[in-house]
Amino acid sequence: MVKIYSKYDEKFMFSLYDKLQKELKHKRFIHSVGVAGTASSLAMKYGESVYKAQIAGLLHDCAKCYDDEELIRLCRKNNIEVTSFEEEHGFLLHAKYGAHMARIRYAIEDESILSAIRWHTTGHENMTLLEKIIYISDYIEPSRNKAPNLDRIRYTAFNEDDIDKSLLMIMKDTIEYLRKDTGSLDTTTEAAYKYYSNE
Ligand SMILES: [Fe+2]
Ligand SMILES: [Fe+2]
Repeated sequence: MVKIYSKYDEKFMFSLYDKLQKELKHKRFIHSVGVAGTASSLAMKYGESVYKAQIAGLLHDCAKCYDDEELIRLCRKNNIEVTSFEEEHGFLLHAKYGAHMARIRYAIEDESILSAIRWHTTGHENMTLLEKIIYISDYIEPSRNKAPNLDRIRYTAFNEDDIDKSLLMIMKDTIEYLRKDTGSLDTTTEAAYKYYSNE
């Protein structure tokens, strides 16, 4: 396993970019690079490790190379819990399985990075700063162009000193979208929204 994080390790970062580019479709790779860049910038603003933010951003969708059925199968094979909701919405598992892949395929040992990958889709109650940074960056990185209120959320994330403001804006819009357009909402996303809107 590669020991990192004490200082920027250029060789290790190059190998991550190289491996990931081979595994992901072009559009997904561009998105991942966008999340890494946005997360690094937010880390500078809010006082998180820029290096960790870059790695977590880059790898957050590393399991997107698998379809829903493969994700369910791979999670079961590796003793990763699959809830009945996740069985119906297999794509959600790319976060859980992504954290596992980051550890075994990309040699990431840092639990805070793995946790940011694990929670990037649903969020959860009482998130760490790095988890918030990746959750927000996934939504606002430059190649995103469909979500409503993007300009306002981008402005808030970079111009206000309260990261929870933009986090909550994203959770609110995500929940509205899930309710209206898909008719399904997972309990973790809902609980996270309640937690942050009541604070
Ligand atoms: Fe994702
Ligand atoms: Fe993503």
